[in-house]
Amino acid sequence: MADSSLSLAPALERIRAEIDVLLGELLTVPQDPRAQLYEAMRHAAIGGGKRLRPLLVVAACGLFHTARERALRVGAAVECVHVYSLIHDDLPAMDDDDLRRGKPTVHKAYDEATAILAGDSLHALAFEILADEKTHEDPFVRAELVGELARAAGPAGMAGGQMMDLAAAEADLDLSAVTRLQQLKTGALIGFCLEAGAIMGRVPIEGRTRLRGYARDVGLAFQIADDLLDEEGEEEKIGKKVGKDRARGKETFVSLLGRERARRQAELLVEQAVFYLQSYGAEADLLRAIARFAVERDH
Ligand code: IPE
Ligand code: IPE
Ligand code: MG
Ligand code: MG
Ligand code: MG
Repeated sequence: MADSSLSLAPALERIRAEIDVLLGELLTVPQDPRAQLYEAMRHAAIGGGKRLRPLLVVAACGLFHTARERALRVGAAVECVHVYSLIHDDLPAMDDDDLRRGKPTVHKAYDEATAILAGDSLHALAFEILADEKTHEDPFVRAELVGELARAAGPAGMAGGQMMDLAAAEADLDLSAVTRLQQLKTGALIGFCLEAGAIMGRVPIEGRTRLRGYARDVGLAFQIADDLLDEEGEEEKIGKKVGKDRARGKETFVSLLGRERARRQAELLVEQAVFYLQSYGAEADLLRAIARFAVERDH
């Protein structure tokens, strides 16, 4: 158990530093009335988070020998969408949370209007990064990346899942409804990370089945771990408040299955995810380690 997280630690450390540098360059604070907006974006996006999505992009791109700096740009783009989703998720109108990545949430550090605009701006920045020639010289590849990230972020993906999540506090959802909700809320963006590797590597649709299977299982396992950490994690380690789902009466894998079965389910999903990679050699080791980390993590 400790082994796989150990081997992943340097990779996580490296990607954290690289994404911080890249976003730092993209978010230079101007000396005009927009300064607060840029500062709020930096507060949310720089110096925190596991950077699991950028690492997934880099790992997937590694299968197809894509240059690391290009993979990093795609990773930064998906991280921008993720951070935007967290800023809005924490707003009083949604989960009303005060703590994120060990810091005050953006609406606490600034105000609600700034938080809304910081989210909007990070959302837009993601697509600006993908549309830039520096990401890929082929405009068809760039257009496919833009289209796929838009789909993963919108009503058929993350935003749709968030809508279902809000409704979940009132409704009695069963396991298949919760699975569907989580596949959109968390799974879609994780799915994009793997899809992006295939797009950058110009892998035809029929060659993407294994990566899609891996993404689906890792995405679900990752969300089960998030639900478990909400029940039994430590605030200092996870950098956000715990016990929120139960307090809000949200149906999660843990509320439906109980902790032990939820944990077992997450472990099975990881085994299944790794199984999808069996035809790959050592070049998929990073993806294998990420799958294990998704459930063994304590933060
Ligand atoms: C938290 O995501 C929200 C979910 C979609 C489960 P992460 O656990 O990846 O949060 P950070 O990026 O490390 O802060
Ligand atoms: C949020 O899910 C997922 C997003 C799309 C932002 P949660 O509400 O469970 O995430 P946390 O627990 O606040 O990080
Ligand atoms: Mg939420
Ligand atoms: Mg939340
Ligand atoms: Mg949660």
